Amino acid sequence: MKICTESEISNSCDLFLIENQKINFDDLSLFLESTFPHMKKNIPTWISYIASHGENMVIIDKEKKIQGFLNIEKKSNTLSEINFIGVSPQIQKKGIGTFLLNYAEQKNKNNNMSVQELRLHTEGDHMNNLQFYHKNNWKIYNVDKNGYSHTTAVEYRKKISSK
Ligand SMILES: CC(C)(COP(=O)(O)OP(=O)(O)OC[C@H]1O[C@@H](n2cnc3c(N)ncnc32)[C@H](O)[C@@H]1OP(=O)(O)O)[C@@H](O)C(=O)NCCC(=O)NCCS
Repeated sequence: MKICTESEISNSCDLFLIENQKINFDDLSLFLESTFPHMKKNIPTWISYIASHGENMVIIDKEKKIQGFLNIEKKSNTLSEINFIGVSPQIQKKGIGTFLLNYAEQKNKNNNMSVQELRLHTEGDHMNNLQFYHKNNWKIYNVDKNGYSHTTAVEYRKKISSK
């Protein structure tokens, strides 16, 4: 699947990355419901958080349907946090999640010279996600046994600067 940024658009693009443009929050809500079906009741809270925190990166298809999403927020001078990452269930395992992680990492390297590390949290019982972060060279930093009501919260970190 060829994912194009705004500067690369051509006929061969399958998907497009758009950033910080006005997101249609109804569309985003539908996307999150299909991507996180077990979290349906949290989605209105997530949407209001996303609307006022961090930077958004959205992958859309040719019909402008949302197929991927990442929100990243600067937490301190040296640390940014990926609050949300998701890819449509129909097109998972095709490299789109990896593309979003790499894109967010590169952007933080280029724009926030002070940011040295990225952080994210995930549920400890989601083996696919744990594998996904390991494959992308993230390291487990902490495991909080009381993190979520049903499972542990695993904190991953990735250094993006040698400082
Ligand atoms: C986690 C997620 C963002 C990964 O995005 P993706 O585009 O599917 O991932 P990629 O194609 O870049 O990477 C694939 C790797 O991730 C892991 N993986 C991701 N989804 C998987 C699935 N459904 N089944 C098995 N492995 C999976 C595997 O290690 C896989 O490697 P492989 O193809 O060699 O087996 C995506 O699966 C997702 O949106 N999941 C539901 C929402 C979610 O849980 N988000 C993370 C919250 S912390």
